[in-house]
Amino acid sequence: MQLYVDSANIADIRHAASLGMISGVTTNPSLLAKEDPSIDIKALILDIHKTVGGHLSVEVVSTDTAGMLREADEILSWFPEATIKIPMIPAGLSAVKELARQQVPTNVTLIFSAAQALAANNAGATYVSLFLGRLDDVSTDGMRAVEDTCEIWDVHGLESQIIAASIRHPIHVLQCAKAGAHIATVPYKVLMQMLKHPLTDSGLQSFLNDYEKMKAEKEKLSA
Ligand code: G3P
Repeated sequence: MQLYVDSANIADIRHAASLGMISGVTTNPSLLAKEDPSIDIKALILDIHKTVGGHLSVEVVSTDTAGMLREADEILSWFPEATIKIPMIPAGLSAVKELARQQVPTNVTLIFSAAQALAANNAGATYVSLFLGRLDDVSTDGMRAVEDTCEIWDVHGLESQIIAASIRHPIHVLQCAKAGAHIATVPYKVLMQMLKHPLTDSGLQSFLNDYEKMKAEKEKLSA
């Protein structure tokens, strides 16, 4: 399963990219709004694109099809490899259908059920982003929605890539990988949590201590 970082913070994205563990970035208006308000959004998006080089989803903010298509054109004029992130609303599906006709990749976002994912797939979405953490937040089983979607994809061999989004902790990542999601887009903090294990830290410390002890003994012998 591929990992993307779900962030608009260039320092976090640079660090995650330097570790070799991510192959793309997803952004959204809320993530962009967390950054310095003086920042130029186009320059930031291009910086992210240059840093990671892989998938980069950029979200439109229009809620009508014509507006979404205009925004898609603008984003594509910044860099032609962009994936256009479109909300899961009827006007969004019409935009996805048109962008698919133009062979422009789309990522349908704010999907909370397998039925929505199926509709987005049929409209021609390249990616369907299923938000599991936000389902958990309202006492609904987010993983169940991911599992249902993956099962339907397996039965019918559907084409869209399933992105597990709204990931809250490393266990979500494991569960999504087991369910068969193609990609998980993961906040930077959770990516870092995935790397940590207390036995790794204590194991490394004892290797280093033992090495120092051995070196000191060898030095004593050769003195
Ligand atoms: O890409 C957007 C999605 O991952 C949102 O996550 O944490 O705002 O529910 P969150």
